[in-house]
Amino acid sequence: MYAFDIAAGSKTELYHDLHAALDALTADEPDTVANMANAAALIWQYLPDLNWAGFYRAAGDELVLGPFQGKAACIRIALGKGVCGTAAATRQTQRVDDVHAFPGHIACDAASASELVVPITVGDRLVGVLDLDSPEPGRFDAEDAAGCERLVALLAPRIAGAAA
Ligand code: SME
Repeated sequence: MYAFDIAAGSKTELYHDLHAALDALTADEPDTVANMANAAALIWQYLPDLNWAGFYRAAGDELVLGPFQGKAACIRIALGKGVCGTAAATRQTQRVDDVHAFPGHIACDAASASELVVPITVGDRLVGVLDLDSPEPGRFDAEDAAGCERLVALLAPRIAGAAA
């Protein structure tokens, strides 16, 4: 069993402690699926108000579902489609306060109201995306985006072989 000391105080502390926990969980593990699975579980456990947290992996001109927590989700997303495909195609974090206002949003869980998607790259290569959904509109602020980008930067080389 793993026990983590995750601060329940400020968001800054929360992301600091999550980063340390993710580092400890994945530092010595070469298996990409294990690392994505534990990262999804850690984020799901400690970030409040999520209804989905997990990964899509790059595979040619589409993304393919990877390890996640939440309801069963769409398996394949074309690059450029939806919030995930847009993050993958532009390689820019997508922070969407109202998914219903996002052109082409793909509704995997009707409960999702806001979404944060961070592209995962190693050098020039797209590995996939980290996708977080929330039932609360505007759940993700700039600090969440920056915090998740730091988590992804740590994790990227440890899941570099994860492309489908
Ligand atoms: N809503 C995403 C699809 C993935 S699910 O949220 C898990 C999108 O528009 O890309």
